[in-house]
Amino acid sequence: MKRYLLTPGPVTIPPEIALKEALPIFHHRTNEFAMVYKNIAKGLKYVFQTENEVYVLAASGTGAMEMAVANLLSTGDKIIVASCGNFGDRWAEIARGYGIEVISASVRWGKTIKPVEVERALKENPDVKAVYTTFTETSTGVANDIKAIGGIVSKTNAVLVVDAISGLVGQEFRTDEWKVDAVISASQKGFMLAPGLAFITLNGKAWKLVDASKIPKFYFDIKKYKKFYAVGETPFTPPLTLITALQESVRLIEERGLKNIWNDCKLLAKATRAAMKALGLELFSEVPCEIVTSASVPVDIGVKIVKTLREKYGVSIAGGQGDLKGRIIRFAHLGCTGKADLLAGFTCLEMVLIELGVKIKKGKAAAAVEEILLRT
Ligand SMILES: Cc1ncc(COP(=O)(O)O)c(C=O)c1O
Repeated sequence: MKRYLLTPGPVTIPPEIALKEALPIFHHRTNEFAMVYKNIAKGLKYVFQTENEVYVLAASGTGAMEMAVANLLSTGDKIIVASCGNFGDRWAEIARGYGIEVISASVRWGKTIKPVEVERALKENPDVKAVYTTFTETSTGVANDIKAIGGIVSKTNAVLVVDAISGLVGQEFRTDEWKVDAVISASQKGFMLAPGLAFITLNGKAWKLVDASKIPKFYFDIKKYKKFYAVGETPFTPPLTLITALQESVRLIEERGLKNIWNDCKLLAKATRAAMKALGLELFSEVPCEIVTSASVPVDIGVKIVKTLREKYGVSIAGGQGDLKGRIIRFAHLGCTGKADLLAGFTCLEMVLIELGVKIKKGKAAAAVEEILLRT
């Protein structure tokens, strides 16, 4: 059965990238590798919209999150965590693991971070070293106003650290212009790669914290990555198949252009929201992001919807995480997801809902998608 991967990571790997992953590997202490790595480095600056270096590490996204904590802070430091979901909460978990004091500027899952709350927390705690937050909170489908938060944090001594793991590439994000001091991301979302690579970039303000950090580290010591970057290498053996594929990924992103990709995701997001509403499902997020749409579902069938859709029709969407398990579904529209994938996914979702006893008139979801697509 043909499978449709409509989850917010991992995403479908386009054939151009998958073929690169199949090429023979070569040694990483060579000019050949340095050439590839330099191409990637240039492409990543464009993708992150930054003039600063972007380092590549072999880890899932959480590895880069840990790096952004362990390298910027010292035990006993104070930070603000502005979370609105599972992944935002992860910042606090990692930080507490290193003995960091966490001040919360968080909101209920499904809500968006209030920049004024971040401002208030900064005023009340002028000694905090950093504000950690999330761009697109994948667990709830919420987008946060990083531009506004960046404007606020930049006026203080604190640095702003943003998890852009799911939102980078698919939704407008401008590291330098929005005054974000540290950004992390990962390979299995907008980059359309297999999981296994993570990325991190820091500006000068963040590097000052690196110099002051006293947390012990080795593999995740960002200074090692900086040193090797200068000669077109990574400090440890890189996952070469993924690196070769990453070169193709950034090439494809540059070829299509970020603005076009942002617009593509925006259109699919609009059609997805319309289709959810047509199915009688209420959108869960206060400010929906452009890469994944979440909607509330009846709790008695919540888990069954995702399972039936996958097993009977080969369509994978995501369910809720933590307390939201069985209460929401999450339908992603990033990477190489196309208009036809949306139509297929929603037609199957509609059939599953009907099979599970939801009263819907057949064809409503596809009609809603068509309505939006035909208008553009
Ligand atoms: C916003 C966000 N942060 C963090 C993570 C964790 O990344 P990983 O599972 O690659 O460690 C994810 C993964 O879904 C995510 O979407």
